[in-house]
Amino acid sequence: MEKLAIIGGTGLTQLADFKLNKKEVLTTPYGPPSADYLIGELNGVSAVFLARHGNPHSIPPHKINYCANIWGLKQLGVENIIAVAAVGGITSAMGPAQIAIPDQIIDYTYGRKHSFFEDPGTAVTHIDFTYPYSQPLRARLIDAASQTGIHISPRATYGCTQGPRLETTAEILRMEKDGCDIVGMTAMPEAALARELGLNYAGIAVVANWAAGKTEGEITMTEIEHNLHSGMANVGLILQKLVRL
Ligand code: HPA
Repeated sequence: MEKLAIIGGTGLTQLADFKLNKKEVLTTPYGPPSADYLIGELNGVSAVFLARHGNPHSIPPHKINYCANIWGLKQLGVENIIAVAAVGGITSAMGPAQIAIPDQIIDYTYGRKHSFFEDPGTAVTHIDFTYPYSQPLRARLIDAASQTGIHISPRATYGCTQGPRLETTAEILRMEKDGCDIVGMTAMPEAALARELGLNYAGIAVVANWAAGKTEGEITMTEIEHNLHSGMANVGLILQKLVRL
């Protein structure tokens, strides 16, 4: 497989069974990336790992330097990115600990630097984003999951909110009407920036909680962490298969 990177999200600051060979500290024209790039091997195949929220987990979604993170991966010669994300579940199949391979995105974020093509002297460029995730890379993820026997949802529309607060009930109802199945805070501008630099990008989302209003009571960080624990272990197994496909 072409050079692969895994961007780890909440619940995946470190990748189990990743054999670390070296750390690459990069400076970029956009400022510092979230963390050192970990260069190593997953299941015997070379891979790069980046902790999206920093290590330790300290950068909230709206403060992540997405441009630096993606630019750094390009500098390292990465061609394929698997973006792991914790999300809330909106539609009925998306209960806690469910894993989904999203195929569409609706962007509800604001005020994030979301393009490499906006600095003075840069040509105006409109990337095609009809399919925001790489279809071949998604197919490999789905294939890897089926080889593990772990049940996944092979498609989902990811609604990306600004955060860091969770949503209101009305916001989630609106998102459901819009067609969102899951809600997270990091797919954008990450996916679009990867496309701008010509990198293949696919996501694997783990449902941490029912989205606001979809269940009684408050959503707590304890609940989120508990559900992510089992879901992320399954993500690790899927990734170990993926690198061998
Ligand atoms: N909303 C947005 N992002 C999230 C959620 C949620 O309910 N859970 C985990 N990430």
